[in-house]
Amino acid sequence: MTRDLFEDDAEVRREEGTAAVSSSLPLGPGAVVLRGRALDDAAMLLADLRQQVLARAPWRHMVTPGGFRMSVAMSNCGALGWVADRGGYRYDPRDPDSGRPWPPMPASFARFAAQMAAGAGFDGFAPDACLINRYEPGARLSLHQDRDERDFDQPIVSVSLGLPAVFLFGGATRAHKARRVPLAHGDVVVWGGPARLHHHGVLPLAEGTHPLTGRCRINLTFRKAGPARP
Ligand code: SIN
Ligand code: FE2
Repeated sequence: MTRDLFEDDAEVRREEGTAAVSSSLPLGPGAVVLRGRALDDAAMLLADLRQQVLARAPWRHMVTPGGFRMSVAMSNCGALGWVADRGGYRYDPRDPDSGRPWPPMPASFARFAAQMAAGAGFDGFAPDACLINRYEPGARLSLHQDRDERDFDQPIVSVSLGLPAVFLFGGATRAHKARRVPLAHGDVVVWGGPARLHHHGVLPLAEGTHPLTGRCRINLTFRKAGPARP
Protein backbone atom coordinates (compact mmCIF):
# COMPACT_ATOMS: atom_id res chain seq x y z
CA MET A 1 0.00 0.00 0.00
CA THR A 2 2.69 2.47 1.10
CA ARG A 3 4.84 1.37 -1.82
CA ASP A 4 2.00 2.02 -4.26
CA LEU A 5 1.50 5.53 -2.94
CA PHE A 6 5.19 6.31 -3.32
CA GLU A 7 5.19 5.00 -6.87
CA ASP A 8 2.27 7.24 -7.74
CA ASP A 9 4.01 10.27 -6.26
CA ALA A 10 7.16 9.50 -8.22
CA GLU A 11 5.11 9.21 -11.38
CA VAL A 12 3.44 12.56 -10.76
CA ARG A 13 6.84 14.23 -10.24
CA ARG A 14 8.28 12.55 -13.31
CA GLU A 15 5.37 13.73 -15.42
CA GLU A 16 5.62 17.28 -14.15
CA GLY A 17 9.32 17.15 -15.04
CA THR A 18 8.49 15.92 -18.53
CA ALA A 19 6.05 18.76 -19.05
CA ALA A 20 8.79 21.34 -18.54
CA VAL A 21 11.00 19.86 -21.26
CA SER A 22 8.52 18.63 -23.80
CA SER A 23 4.98 19.65 -24.63
CA SER A 24 3.67 16.16 -25.20
CA LEU A 25 3.53 13.11 -23.00
CA PRO A 26 2.88 9.79 -24.75
CA LEU A 27 0.57 7.46 -22.83
CA GLY A 28 1.24 4.48 -25.12
CA PRO A 29 0.39 3.72 -28.77
CA GLY A 30 -2.49 5.96 -29.91
CA ALA A 31 -2.66 8.12 -26.76
CA VAL A 32 -0.94 11.37 -25.87
CA VAL A 33 -1.25 14.37 -23.56
CA LEU A 34 -0.63 17.66 -25.38
CA ARG A 35 0.48 19.91 -22.56
CA GLY A 36 -0.90 23.45 -22.46
CA ARG A 37 -2.17 23.24 -26.03
CA ALA A 38 -5.52 24.89 -25.15
CA LEU A 39 -4.03 27.80 -23.18
CA ASP A 40 -4.32 30.33 -26.02
CA ASP A 41 -7.89 29.29 -26.88
CA ALA A 42 -9.22 28.72 -23.36
CA ALA A 43 -10.94 32.09 -22.91
CA MET A 44 -12.62 31.84 -26.31
CA LEU A 45 -13.73 28.24 -25.72
CA LEU A 46 -15.21 29.17 -22.33
CA ALA A 47 -16.99 32.25 -23.70
CA ASP A 48 -18.48 30.23 -26.57
CA LEU A 49 -19.46 27.51 -24.10
CA ARG A 50 -21.38 29.98 -21.93
CA GLN A 51 -22.99 31.99 -24.71
CA GLN A 52 -23.69 29.36 -27.35
CA VAL A 53 -24.17 26.18 -25.34
CA LEU A 54 -25.00 26.61 -21.65
CA ALA A 55 -27.47 29.43 -22.31
CA ARG A 56 -29.59 26.87 -24.19
CA ALA A 57 -28.63 23.58 -22.55
CA PRO A 58 -27.80 24.30 -18.89
CA TRP A 59 -25.79 22.03 -16.58
CA ARG A 60 -27.63 19.03 -15.20
CA HIS A 61 -26.75 15.96 -13.12
CA MET A 62 -27.79 12.87 -15.02
CA VAL A 63 -28.93 9.68 -13.31
CA THR A 64 -27.27 6.36 -14.19
CA PRO A 65 -29.30 3.30 -15.24
CA GLY A 66 -28.59 2.00 -11.70
CA GLY A 67 -30.31 5.06 -10.22
CA PHE A 68 -27.26 7.04 -9.05
CA ARG A 69 -27.04 10.80 -9.57
CA MET A 70 -23.71 11.53 -11.27
CA SER A 71 -21.41 13.87 -9.31
CA VAL A 72 -20.27 15.47 -12.58
CA ALA A 73 -22.70 18.00 -14.10
CA MET A 74 -23.06 17.75 -17.89
CA SER A 75 -24.27 19.39 -21.05
CA ASN A 76 -23.75 18.71 -24.76
CA CYS A 77 -23.47 20.43 -28.09
CA GLY A 78 -23.37 19.14 -31.64
CA ALA A 79 -25.72 16.91 -33.63
CA LEU A 80 -25.65 14.25 -30.91
CA GLY A 81 -25.46 14.48 -27.13
CA TRP A 82 -24.46 11.79 -24.65
CA VAL A 83 -27.28 10.98 -22.26
CA ALA A 84 -27.65 8.74 -19.21
CA ASP A 85 -31.00 7.89 -17.67
CA ARG A 86 -32.84 4.95 -16.15
CA GLY A 87 -33.08 3.44 -19.64
CA GLY A 88 -29.32 3.31 -20.24
CA TYR A 89 -26.54 5.29 -21.91
CA ARG A 90 -26.96 6.59 -25.46
CA TYR A 91 -26.49 9.43 -27.90
CA ASP A 92 -29.58 11.49 -28.51
CA PRO A 93 -30.12 14.30 -31.03
CA ARG A 94 -32.35 16.07 -28.48
CA ASP A 95 -31.81 17.47 -25.02
CA PRO A 96 -34.22 15.46 -22.84
CA ASP A 97 -34.63 18.46 -20.49
CA SER A 98 -35.94 20.81 -23.20
CA GLY A 99 -37.08 18.40 -25.91
CA ARG A 100 -35.12 20.52 -28.41
CA PRO A 101 -32.02 19.63 -30.45
CA TRP A 102 -28.73 20.19 -28.60
CA PRO A 103 -27.11 23.56 -29.39
CA PRO A 104 -24.94 23.37 -32.53
CA MET A 105 -21.25 22.87 -31.91
CA PRO A 106 -19.56 26.29 -31.90
CA ALA A 107 -17.24 26.69 -34.90
CA SER A 108 -14.37 27.38 -32.49
CA PHE A 109 -14.92 23.98 -30.82
CA ALA A 110 -14.93 21.93 -34.03
CA ARG A 111 -11.89 23.74 -35.40
CA PHE A 112 -9.92 23.33 -32.18
CA ALA A 113 -10.78 19.63 -31.81
CA ALA A 114 -9.70 18.87 -35.38
CA GLN A 115 -6.41 20.72 -34.83
CA MET A 116 -5.69 18.75 -31.66
CA ALA A 117 -6.54 15.41 -33.30
CA ALA A 118 -4.25 16.24 -36.22
CA GLY A 119 -1.50 17.19 -33.76
CA ALA A 120 -1.78 13.70 -32.31
CA GLY A 121 -1.66 12.04 -35.73
CA PHE A 122 -5.39 11.68 -36.44
CA ASP A 123 -6.15 13.70 -39.56
CA GLY A 124 -9.68 14.55 -40.70
CA PHE A 125 -11.37 14.36 -37.28
CA ALA A 126 -14.93 15.63 -37.68
CA PRO A 127 -16.68 15.40 -34.29
CA ASP A 128 -20.49 15.43 -34.21
CA ALA A 129 -20.73 15.34 -30.40
CA CYS A 130 -19.16 17.35 -27.61
CA LEU A 131 -19.93 16.28 -24.05
CA ILE A 132 -19.18 18.97 -21.51
CA ASN A 133 -18.37 17.88 -17.96
CA ARG A 134 -18.23 20.14 -14.92
CA TYR A 135 -16.39 18.84 -11.86
CA GLU A 136 -16.80 20.67 -8.58
CA PRO A 137 -14.53 19.68 -5.66
CA GLY A 138 -15.28 16.06 -4.76
CA ALA A 139 -16.79 15.17 -8.16
CA ARG A 140 -15.27 12.17 -9.91
CA LEU A 141 -15.72 9.89 -12.88
CA SER A 142 -15.10 6.20 -12.30
CA LEU A 143 -13.08 4.12 -14.77
CA HIS A 144 -15.06 3.48 -17.95
CA GLN A 145 -14.70 2.99 -21.69
CA ASP A 146 -16.21 5.33 -24.28
CA ARG A 147 -18.14 2.77 -26.29
CA ASP A 148 -21.55 4.26 -27.07
CA GLU A 149 -20.29 5.61 -30.40
CA ARG A 150 -21.20 3.91 -33.69
CA ASP A 151 -17.66 3.11 -34.72
CA PHE A 152 -14.31 3.41 -33.07
CA ASP A 153 -12.28 4.64 -36.04
CA GLN A 154 -12.11 8.22 -34.84
CA PRO A 155 -10.24 9.37 -31.74
CA ILE A 156 -11.44 11.09 -28.57
CA VAL A 157 -10.22 14.62 -27.92
CA SER A 158 -10.50 15.77 -24.30
CA VAL A 159 -9.77 19.35 -23.22
CA SER A 160 -9.12 20.32 -19.57
CA LEU A 161 -10.05 23.82 -18.41
CA GLY A 162 -9.95 25.37 -14.95
CA LEU A 163 -8.97 23.45 -11.83
CA PRO A 164 -6.41 20.64 -12.18
CA ALA A 165 -7.37 16.98 -11.92
CA VAL A 166 -5.80 13.56 -11.84
CA PHE A 167 -6.79 11.60 -14.94
CA LEU A 168 -6.69 7.81 -14.79
CA PHE A 169 -5.62 6.09 -17.98
CA GLY A 170 -5.76 2.31 -18.04
CA GLY A 171 -5.84 -0.31 -20.75
CA ALA A 172 -8.23 -2.38 -22.81
CA THR A 173 -9.34 -4.36 -19.78
CA ARG A 174 -10.36 -3.25 -16.33
CA ALA A 175 -7.60 -5.43 -14.85
CA HIS A 176 -4.89 -3.20 -16.37
CA LYS A 177 -3.48 -0.88 -13.69
CA ALA A 178 -4.48 2.68 -14.50
CA ARG A 179 -1.75 5.29 -14.69
CA ARG A 180 -2.33 8.58 -12.83
CA VAL A 181 -1.84 11.55 -15.12
CA PRO A 182 -2.05 15.05 -13.61
CA LEU A 183 -3.94 17.37 -16.00
CA ALA A 184 -3.74 21.15 -15.76
CA HIS A 185 -5.72 23.98 -17.30
CA GLY A 186 -5.02 23.93 -21.04
CA ASP A 187 -3.96 20.29 -21.33
CA VAL A 188 -5.48 18.17 -24.09
CA VAL A 189 -5.59 14.36 -24.13
CA VAL A 190 -6.13 12.52 -27.41
CA TRP A 191 -6.65 8.76 -27.62
CA GLY A 192 -7.60 6.64 -30.61
CA GLY A 193 -6.45 3.74 -32.78
CA PRO A 194 -5.15 0.97 -30.52
CA ALA A 195 -6.04 3.05 -27.41
CA ARG A 196 -9.56 4.01 -28.50
CA LEU A 197 -11.31 1.68 -26.03
CA HIS A 198 -8.93 2.16 -23.13
CA HIS A 199 -10.45 2.64 -19.70
CA HIS A 200 -10.18 6.11 -18.18
CA GLY A 201 -11.59 8.17 -15.36
CA VAL A 202 -11.01 11.15 -13.08
CA LEU A 203 -10.12 11.07 -9.35
CA PRO A 204 -12.21 13.23 -6.98
CA LEU A 205 -11.45 16.88 -7.71
CA ALA A 206 -9.48 18.75 -5.05
CA GLU A 207 -10.71 22.03 -3.56
CA GLY A 208 -9.59 25.22 -5.30
CA THR A 209 -10.56 28.14 -7.49
CA HIS A 210 -9.34 29.05 -10.96
CA PRO A 211 -9.39 32.56 -12.44
CA LEU A 212 -11.27 31.44 -15.58
CA THR A 213 -13.72 28.87 -14.21
CA GLY A 214 -14.04 29.57 -10.49
CA ARG A 215 -14.48 26.55 -8.22
CA CYS A 216 -14.58 23.87 -10.92
CA ARG A 217 -12.89 21.99 -13.72
CA ILE A 218 -14.57 21.96 -17.12
CA ASN A 219 -13.79 19.20 -19.59
CA LEU A 220 -14.80 19.18 -23.25
CA THR A 221 -14.87 15.71 -24.79
CA PHE A 222 -15.16 15.56 -28.56
CA ARG A 223 -16.28 12.43 -30.34
CA LYS A 224 -17.59 11.18 -33.63
CA ALA A 225 -20.67 9.40 -32.30
CA GLY A 226 -22.90 8.85 -35.32
CA PRO A 227 -22.40 6.94 -38.56
CA ALA A 228 -19.57 8.00 -40.87
CA ARG A 229 -22.03 8.93 -43.63
CA PRO A 230 -25.44 9.73 -42.15
C1 SIN B 1 -14.80 11.61 -19.92
O1 SIN B 1 -14.30 10.50 -19.80
O2 SIN B 1 -15.87 11.77 -20.53
C2 SIN B 1 -14.18 12.83 -19.30
C3 SIN B 1 -12.77 12.71 -18.90
C4 SIN B 1 -12.27 13.99 -18.24
O3 SIN B 1 -13.05 14.71 -17.61
O4 SIN B 1 -11.07 14.28 -18.34
FE1 FE2 C 1 -14.97 8.92 -21.14
